[in-house]
Parts: sequence; C-alpha cells; structure tokens
Amino acid sequence: MSLQLGDAAPNFTAQTTEGDINFYDYLGDSWGVLFSHPADYTPVCTTELGRTAALKSEFAQRNVKVLAVSVDGLEKHKDWVKDINETQNCTVDFPIIADEEKNVASLYDMIHPNASETFTVRSLFIIGPDKKLKLSLTYPASTGRNFIEVLRVIDSLQLAANYSVATPADWKQGEDVIVSLAVSTADAERKFAKGIKIVKPYLRYTAQPNID
Ligand code: BEZ
Repeated sequence: MSLQLGDAAPNFTAQTTEGDINFYDYLGDSWGVLFSHPADYTPVCTTELGRTAALKSEFAQRNVKVLAVSVDGLEKHKDWVKDINETQNCTVDFPIIADEEKNVASLYDMIHPNASETFTVRSLFIIGPDKKLKLSLTYPASTGRNFIEVLRVIDSLQLAANYSVATPADWKQGEDVIVSLAVSTADAERKFAKGIKIVKPYLRYTAQPNID
C-alpha cells in the first residue's frame, strides 16, 4: 500500500550530487520536500529543478530542506545540473539522489507502472520535523509542478502546527485564517488576540496570527 498522510516517512541512505546522505540526518529538525522527476536532460524537469533552486531563500525562510530524486546515475545528474544552471539562471545546490537501484522510488511508490515501467512520476512529499508525511502529490510527466503552491502548503501546514488554525480555499499569505474546529469559541476568543469573526459556529475566522 502506498504511503498515506500521517505515516512515518521512510528513512534511507543514498548517493546524491551533494555526497552520501542519510535522509533523517539530512533533514535534522527541518521540514523536508522530497520530489521525484522522470529523467535527466528532459525539458519540464529542467525547469522544475531550476525553479526549486531559484526559490532557495523561500525554502530556507521556512526551515525546509529539499531533495530531488530520479533513477538516473550520479554523473548524469552532475552533468545535467550544468545545463539547469545555465538555462534557468540558477545554482542548483540541493541534493539530487541517484536512485539507479530504485530504492527510494520503491519506498515512496514513485514508479507508477501504467504511466511508465521505468521512470519515476512527478511525486512530491512534504515531511514534517516529526518525520511524518504531511502532503503527497503526483503529477504526470507532461505537467511541471507549481512550486509557489508547494510553499503555500508549507505555510499552511506550519500555521496549523503552531497556531491551531487552518487555511481556507485559495488562501494566500496575509489573508484571514480559519480557527481549528478543535478550539472552542470561548477558547478562541482568549487565544486569538486579533479577535475572531463568527460566520457560523463551525466557520470562524481570525487574522493570520504570525504577522503584525
Ligand atoms: C520532461 O521533463 O519534459 C519530460 C520527462 C519525461 C517524459 C516527458 C517529459
């Protein structure tokens, strides 16, 4: 059975473009984004890894470490990185796992045989500091992922973890958030200094708590 939200993210050791790693040690206390791409020297993948590199400071601000993975080998990864840096005007300095034995791909169910017998699909996992799986998404080879959306989910997850709030549809930084159903209205009135707006007993908003 494939991994489900709340499951422990499987640990592994792997060869990467940044040296050998133990996944858990690499993550330390950080959040993690582990994402697969089908193959090196392919166009959509080139833009995805370039975009991830360009967003380095956004991931760092959120205490997130990223790792990419495909079933290509280390030398191929290292050579392809030169193309990514050149064409996407970036510096890729996060690890790209060389998963020729498909160890990580198997642990994270990244090969979907009816899409491709050999290549990983575009899987992406967000892993919390507790090493539990917080989000998984799967895109087809022909669609590059939206890394701004990945950051938005991380913001939402971190708000939920720290402030007992959830985020509404299409929520963006700075907009009101939803008071968790686990918090009573009486407790919410005490907890959220900026006040709460009660639309329905189950639909209560408050200003985003971690900004002024
Ligand atoms: C791409 O990255 O463009 C791609 C990779 C594998 C299959 C199709 C497209």
